[in-house]
Amino acid sequence: MRLKSMAALAAVLLLAGNAFAQDGRAAFEHRRDTMKAMGRALYLGVGRVAKGRAEFGPDTVAAAETLAKLAATIGTLFPPGSDVPDSNMKPGILSAPDRVAQLAAAVQAAMPGFVVEVKSGDKARIAAAASTMNKACDACHNDFRKEE
Ligand code: HEC
Repeated sequence: MRLKSMAALAAVLLLAGNAFAQDGRAAFEHRRDTMKAMGRALYLGVGRVAKGRAEFGPDTVAAAETLAKLAATIGTLFPPGSDVPDSNMKPGILSAPDRVAQLAAAVQAAMPGFVVEVKSGDKARIAAAASTMNKACDACHNDFRKEE
């Protein structure tokens, strides 16, 4: 009876561990997809206009608004267990939730101004806003993202 319940407990723990690993994997994939989508919006959607490689238009504004929407979720993208082997985040990030919240808040605080500047349609203003936003994103990348 005792052995049986120990085996049952071990099975439960194994299942729980497995579920944790799967959640970690899913969280990593969700983070990667969100970061990629933010990169597309900022570096391509807005960045090409900033660099004069694309015309300003409704797509530019849509990219800025997409970035704002996605950036609002940054704080949720780093749960425990999401440091899977393919991840490029530095392990220290999971033990620094306050710093992550601060870095995410800095990006979010810059967002309303960024969207206003992008909507101006003025290339110089868009370039300045994109550069400011880039710095806010890279403040976290410099601390917590591994060089590839
Ligand atoms: C709080 C920290 C933090 C903030 C803020 C942040 N990032 Fe990231 N970003 C990361 C980390 C960590 C990774 C690596 C994630 C991984 O590989 O698990 C990453 C990865 C990326 C990638 C590579 C995705 C891939 O795997 O192809 C892009 C692109 C990116 N971020 C864009 C942005 C943009 C744009 C912003 C600002 C709007 C931003 N990030 C803000 C931490 C952050």
